[in-house]
Amino acid sequence: MESSVMQNLVTQFFSVDHERLDFLFRMYRENKKNQRYKAVLLFDKFSEGLKRHIRWEEELLFPMFEKANGLKGAGPTMVMRQEHDQIEAILEEIGEGLKNDDHSEALENALLELLLLHNEKEEQVLYVQCDRALTKEQLLALFLDM
Ligand SMILES: [Fe+2]
Repeated sequence: MESSVMQNLVTQFFSVDHERLDFLFRMYRENKKNQRYKAVLLFDKFSEGLKRHIRWEEELLFPMFEKANGLKGAGPTMVMRQEHDQIEAILEEIGEGLKNDDHSEALENALLELLLLHNEKEEQVLYVQCDRALTKEQLLALFLDM
């Protein structure tokens, strides 16, 4: 008997990681005016975590999904990869600004907006499809390689 936990483990794990990252970014924004040192540490943690999350998806999860569905560089994962590029570009820009003690509200709002829409699509659609498509062995390989 497969447990119900296993059936949506991708959705659960990656969604909670989104929440963790959202929380770190929110705490960075709350601290950036009065606690610069703490804010920089929070941003670094957020940035590092978001890049790692994207690597997990692009190097492990998406290829498994593409293979299971006979997709090669097409379909929903292609759109997600393009959005990752946009997200990482803004992330870099914010990080560069921070090095010069420069906080751009506009850039941070743009990143938040992108992440909101992107994460929603992954959580509502892509992760759910991954949970349906991946075998137990693939799921195990995913978590072992992460
Ligand atoms: Fe993503």
